Amino acid sequence: MKRIIIEGNQILSGTINISGAKNSAVALIPAAILCDEEITINNVPNISDIDALQEILTYLGAIVKRDNNSITIDSSKIENKEVPEAISKKLRASYYFMSSLLGKYNFVEMYFPGGCSIGARPIDQTLKGYRMLGANVLEEGNKFTISADELVGSTIDLAMPSVGATVNSILVAVKAKGTTVINNAAREPEISNLVDLLNKMGAKISGAGTSSITIEGVDYLHSAQIEVIPDRIEAGTYVIAGALVGDNLKVNNVIPNHFQSLIDKLIEMGANIIVNEDDIIISKIENGNSINVKTLGFPGFATDLQQPLTTLLTKLNGKSILEETIYENRFQNVPYLNKMGANIEIKDRTIIVSGPTKLIGTTVEATDLRAGACLVLAGLAAEGITTVNKVEYVLRGYENIIEKLSSVGAKIKIEEYNEVA
Ligand code: EPZ
Repeated sequence: MKRIIIEGNQILSGTINISGAKNSAVALIPAAILCDEEITINNVPNISDIDALQEILTYLGAIVKRDNNSITIDSSKIENKEVPEAISKKLRASYYFMSSLLGKYNFVEMYFPGGCSIGARPIDQTLKGYRMLGANVLEEGNKFTISADELVGSTIDLAMPSVGATVNSILVAVKAKGTTVINNAAREPEISNLVDLLNKMGAKISGAGTSSITIEGVDYLHSAQIEVIPDRIEAGTYVIAGALVGDNLKVNNVIPNHFQSLIDKLIEMGANIIVNEDDIIISKIENGNSINVKTLGFPGFATDLQQPLTTLLTKLNGKSILEETIYENRFQNVPYLNKMGANIEIKDRTIIVSGPTKLIGTTVEATDLRAGACLVLAGLAAEGITTVNKVEYVLRGYENIIEKLSSVGAKIKIEEYNEVA
């Protein structure tokens, strides 16, 4: 097991460079399966989720070359064989392979995906998309066997703007016969990044970034290159660190309008924030005003930033109210923040954060990726030493987090430890 140890209350100043977006890279890599030639993806973050996807590609027989932050994939000779549950379980995005294999071969056998335990996270809308295009879906426990004589374009009306269902519907429709329209599609920037790659490969997709996406099926997809967009969640996490303990902390290589909802909330609190074309400069908020936040699909406030933001809410004057509308179990960080001295009440899918409160270092545990990020931020802002256990979760989504924070003045290290039974 790995744990992060932080000596808090250090002022952070200098520059943190943001990496490629995890939630984009994990969609771009499975999309390579659809290509009939080699593709190259640049600015890929070196995080464990990417390692897991590379393992699936290699298992399927793709030729993969990974050179620092670039990955080249030739899947012209892959074998469409069942992906074992042990690999599928490693991350949520593994089911994107289910869609690209189905889209390319009209057949796939795979297992229910993994992912953080922040809710039930069903995949019914993805399966609805497959069925609308003519596929037969056989569920046997955790295993899915999906087959189609022919995939024919149709209209897919999503019950909610699901990111995963939107990605999966696009991947399965790219080579289907005729036109597919996805209504109530998710508008996240990662979807536009994926569509950019597919269109560079010769796909015919329009409407990415809006709630209605149209895909004209094509027979052949040729070689292409793409750059992964900057990670808006990593960027938002470090901007929040700046609001907690920054002195003109510069968060560089960002696209501000990809997390405008966070920037607006920081301004509402009274943050000292400078927004440039591709960087943000932010300092510690003094005497911040409490705010109300409700998580929504893009461009609303990102659910992935609600846990990191909660640490900052503990520092504001008065009661802040945060409502989590996307997941039913995304407050597992709260008991650990309260153990550090926060005053947070949970009421169903809402938390009430009373501040300002002092945070005192102690031992806490990451329960999921963004809960872990929240607790690392709490350690930076706390008095004394904070130990965050089970930080493998954090390493899934934050490339070089120790190096990046140390480079701007944090006293932080990572070490192996043995979990006491
Ligand atoms: C993606 O998950 C992200 N993961 C999540 O980031 C992110 O929190 C989420 O989108 C929302 O922005 C990746 O991109 C790999 P959804 P996804 O389908 O696709 C319900 C992180 O921290 N739903 O938009 O799984 C579902 O229960 C991770 O980086 C259905 O009911 O999210 C959930 O409550 C965590 N049926 C809600 O919609 C479905 O078929 C949002 O799910 C699909 C979803």
